Formats: sequence, structure tokens, C-alpha cells
Amino acid sequence: IQSSQNLNWAGTAKSVTERPRDINSNKGKFGHILIIGGSFGTAGAPSMASLAALRAGAGLVTAAVPREIVNLVGSVTPELMVRPLLHDAEGTATAANLTNLETLTKGIKVIAIGPGLSTQGEASEFARGVVAQTKLPIVIDADALNAFDADHVHLLDGANRTMVLTPHPGEMARLLGKTVKEVEADRINLARKFATEHHLTLVLKGWRTLIAHPDGSIAVNTTGNPGLAKGGSGDILTGIVAALLGQYPDNVAEAVEAAVYLHGLAADLVARHLDEKSILATDVISHLTQAFRYRN
Ligand code: APR
Ligand code: MG
Repeated sequence: IQSSQNLNWAGTAKSVTERPRDINSNKGKFGHILIIGGSFGTAGAPSMASLAALRAGAGLVTAAVPREIVNLVGSVTPELMVRPLLHDAEGTATAANLTNLETLTKGIKVIAIGPGLSTQGEASEFARGVVAQTKLPIVIDADALNAFDADHVHLLDGANRTMVLTPHPGEMARLLGKTVKEVEADRINLARKFATEHHLTLVLKGWRTLIAHPDGSIAVNTTGNPGLAKGGSGDILTGIVAALLGQYPDNVAEAVEAAVYLHGLAADLVARHLDEKSILATDVISHLTQAFRYRN
């Protein structure tokens, strides 16, 4: 079945995430990641994505979140930097932030957009603007994916740039204008078709997450457990993907596969020590360091 469908196991290549690092490395080599997201009530999502990016080896991480929650997100860990976004009365980032995009992305190597962003107000317009106005490698997740419904999905084009989408089945259904049931019934074909047609890397999440590459090849992930079925798990995957793209910009396929594999492995290591159902996404972040070690 594997060879007939052009399927591989995710995360088996180890040319990325090698240990140890060059002795004369500095943080500039490992990328400055910009996480864009958050709104009132969802400060945790960009916080967890940022913390996970730091744990996954990013050189620098900045979270751009609505001004009102900047201090909240910035206090998650002192390694994290923050930048304020303009927001409306409900705490949703506005499209006016697009005029400041050049400043916001100065020195940035990879953008991840979506965790906690919200779909209210001008959030979707803002998300579409970020995707359109920068050529930087970009990870699009959560509410930034929701900005690309049937009327806007044609705007997703990863040709001549690095673009990674990380939908759960519900977000994939929205991108395709299908039901979740239809997506789940035909995961492999739908993922492959979307990735090839839009020239991007598609991570279709859930048990046995699929990584569909723009060349039509697909990898199946074997790590992870139902302990990940809890809010926040997806946000940390986004941070890990962004961090590995920042470190291995020339090896997108392996970087994304390794991110998915390590995310699940960290959760499996937590489950080994603790109870599966009581796992928190933040436990998974703190076990990333073991996952990186274990893998090598
Ligand atoms: N086995 C393995 N992995 C699993 C399992 C399982 N049984 N269940 C979930 N996972 C993994 C998925 O593969 C994915 O990597 O956990 C992660 C869950 O990601 P999301 O579904 O995006 O969940 P999360 O983002 O944490 O929370 C949902 O965020 O995307 C928004 O709008 C969405 O409000 C929702 C919230
Ligand atoms: Mg999610």
C-alpha cells in the first residue's frame, strides 16, 4: 500500500535536528521567528506557540499580539520578545497593522500566523494581507486558515516561497468547502491534491497526521496519542514547525516532518511518565527537550 500511494513514514530522515550544533554557532544562524496571533481571551495560543518555538531551537522568538495582551504574553517566559498589534474594542487585531508589516517583519526568518487570532472584525483581512504582502516562509494555522474560505482559498499559493498549512480536519473542511466527514473519509487524496495544486506543504492533523508535499509525496506520522486531544496541542505544533523551518530553511520537507514527529514523540514521552488524559500542552512543550535527545 505504501509504495503504491507514494507514502513514507514521517520523521525518519535525520539530516535535520542533528546534535550537537556547530561549536561556533550563534543565535543568528537559527532564525528569528515571528508568531502572529492572539486576541482577548486567547492569549494562551500565541504564548504556547512561542514557547514551543523556543524549545524547538529557534534563535529568537517574537510574538506580535494585540497591545492589550502584550504584557500577558510577554510574561510567559523571559526569553520571549513581544510586539503590539493595533486592535478593535473586542481585542481583535485590525487590518491597519498591515501598514506596519515591513517594520514588524524586519530581520524575521519565518512567520507563523493564526493561533488565537480570532475570526472577528478585520482579523481575516489582516491574515490574508500578511500572507499576500510578505514572501517570507510562513506557517498558516488556526484562525489564519479560517480566513481562506471557499472565496479566498485561491489566494493560497506556495510557488516560489515556503508555505506550510497545519489544518485540523475542521479547518481542512473549510478550506475545501467540504464536510469534516468527507475530509476524514479521503484524507490522503485530498491532502495530496491540495498540496500539489497550491504548491505548498500541507499538514493534515489528527491521529496519524499526514504531511503532503508540493511534489505529491506524502508522509504519515506515527507518534502522538490521544493526550494531544486538548486545546493548545495544535498551537505548539505551529511553533515547532516554524522553529525547524528557521533552522533548516533549505530542507522544508524534512523540517516539517521532523516537527510533526517530535511533537508527537514529546507527547508520547509525557504519557509514559504521566497519565495520558491529564497531559497539558505545556507538558508537551517541556518534554520537547527529551524528544530531541531521544530521537538522535
Ligand atoms: N493522536 C495523535 N495526535 C493527536 C490526537 C490523537 N488521538 N488528537 C489530537 N492530536 C494532535 C493533532 O494531530 C494536532 O497536532 O494534536 C494536535 C491538535 O491540534 P488542533 O486540532 O489544531 O487543536 P488546538 O489548536 O490545540 O485547539 C483547537 O485551535 O485550531 C484552533 O479553532 C481551533 O479552537 C480550535 C483550537
Ligand atoms: Mg489548532
